[in-house]
Amino acid sequence: MKNVLEQLTQRRQAAQLGGGQKRIDAQHTRGKLTARERIELLMDENSFEEFDAFVEHRCTDFGMGDKKIPGDGVVTGWGTINGRVVYVFAKDFTVFGGSLSEAHARKITKIQDMALQNRAPIIGLFDAGGARIQEGVAALGGYGEVFLRNTLSSGVIPQISVIMGPCAGGDVYSPAMTDFIFMVRDTSYMFVTGPDVVKTVTNETVTAEELGGASVHTTKSSIADRGYDNDVEALLQMRRLMDFLPASNLVDVPQLPTKDAASRKDLSLDTMIPDNPNQPYDIKELIRKVADEGDFFEIQEAHAANIVVGFGRMEGRTVGFVANQPMVLAGVLDSDASRKAARFVRFCDCFGIPLVTLVDVPGFLPGTSQEYGGLIKHGAKLLFAYAEATVPKVTVITRKAYGGAYDVMSSKHIRGDVNYAWPTAEIAVMGPKGAAEIIYRSELDDPDKIQKRIDDYETRFANPFVAAERGYIDEVIQPHATRQRLCRALNMLRTKKVENPWKKHDNIPL
Ligand code: HXC
Repeated sequence: MKNVLEQLTQRRQAAQLGGGQKRIDAQHTRGKLTARERIELLMDENSFEEFDAFVEHRCTDFGMGDKKIPGDGVVTGWGTINGRVVYVFAKDFTVFGGSLSEAHARKITKIQDMALQNRAPIIGLFDAGGARIQEGVAALGGYGEVFLRNTLSSGVIPQISVIMGPCAGGDVYSPAMTDFIFMVRDTSYMFVTGPDVVKTVTNETVTAEELGGASVHTTKSSIADRGYDNDVEALLQMRRLMDFLPASNLVDVPQLPTKDAASRKDLSLDTMIPDNPNQPYDIKELIRKVADEGDFFEIQEAHAANIVVGFGRMEGRTVGFVANQPMVLAGVLDSDASRKAARFVRFCDCFGIPLVTLVDVPGFLPGTSQEYGGLIKHGAKLLFAYAEATVPKVTVITRKAYGGAYDVMSSKHIRGDVNYAWPTAEIAVMGPKGAAEIIYRSELDDPDKIQKRIDDYETRFANPFVAAERGYIDEVIQPHATRQRLCRALNMLRTKKVENPWKKHDNIPL
């Protein structure tokens, strides 16, 4: 008996060491933690239970028969984050560069299947060199099995990817099909083909960071939802994010205790809107002033900053905030902003997270670059996402709601449940100047006359009451009471039940 126990301890210790101390040291020298260290930080203390620590690959080609390392380059299992069950897999770069073999893929798919069956979130930590080159098609098949499960789990359980080292070749598509991708700055990069292949095929000279670092993917490509300075920060933020998310599409959003009273008034909101309609203000200030304890987890902060999206809580329960940002491009809707917000709205709708929409939008961005870039289709994504969403939808128009963007931003007409406006709201087809100059084009050479026309248009439409008279706005509210009104509306909507007509799935403009 003693012997077998010792054998178990020895085998476990060998597995714990992954690719060996030298490679662990190399990992640390690069500023990266090992797969197991990452899991320790991510999960509640002593909660992680590892599966398949003794799994080895079965490849015999290219001398691989003699090179077997228990675990085969990925650590998998389950544990808890703040007491709630989460499944996890972490690529172990110290073992064959974290590359994916058939056996490695089976370990991941086992965890994916368990997460889906037991309806709990799954987090993947990536640090890997793609398909195990020695295994050929067996590795490609393994990727396919992982991708299939990503697709089947989409919209059923939250799937989160954190890129903490190289993520190349086949490794990129699994994260791309998950709900959110986070990256660690300077130590992680993601691309389909690396700098060497790029040089061969296109003759471009580019570094790994320039091709697929966090600086690129959180801004230009928008592949990544946020970047963090190091492994520790990224993992602690994942713990924070998980507190906002429900375990699956079958259960309610988490409810956390809060000391922030629903009745809290904020008088500073009464003077938030500047007298000059063209002067910006920071919509994030409004989000922080209405959300519980000012806690806001922003998604895609560095991309399309003209729209702000992220999670907060109202009376302890998660909500998704979507808000035009007057500080950036006057809060205009362009292709990037529309795509960013559409994806967020659809995530919230998948998982029963109510939407709070704060509107100050001068319209869609005009111009050839937008039109050539497909603004019509991208704008339609957001319109579609809001229209199909059946979660509670509460909207507050703080200032401008012009043109098509008025309809898009969770208006009454696309099933906004409760639509509030501040007294400073202006709801019209376009701004007074643009409107007057089109309707009274013949008077353009008479500045006094045209100014009078502008003033008339402003008097008629630069207020919330024309919309309120038609019932498009349910109530014009005092800005200082916004939190209270939102909490009341969200409470009232907790029993909301709406179903869309049966369909296999919709055909959102892609
Ligand atoms: C087998 C691999 C490997 C791989 C790395 N290693 N990638 N082993 N298959 N794909 C091994 C190395 O041999 C080395 O082993 C160890 O991992 C560390 O790798 P290094 O190259 O020393 O590390 P580093 O300099 O940091 O470079 C990391 C890297 C590089 C950038 C990831 O290893 C690399 O370019 N790897 C190949 C990437 C790639 O092209 N993958 C295949 C993509 S095709 P030792 O024993 O020396 O420690 C693909 C198709 C799937 O994925 C498509 C499905 C849709």
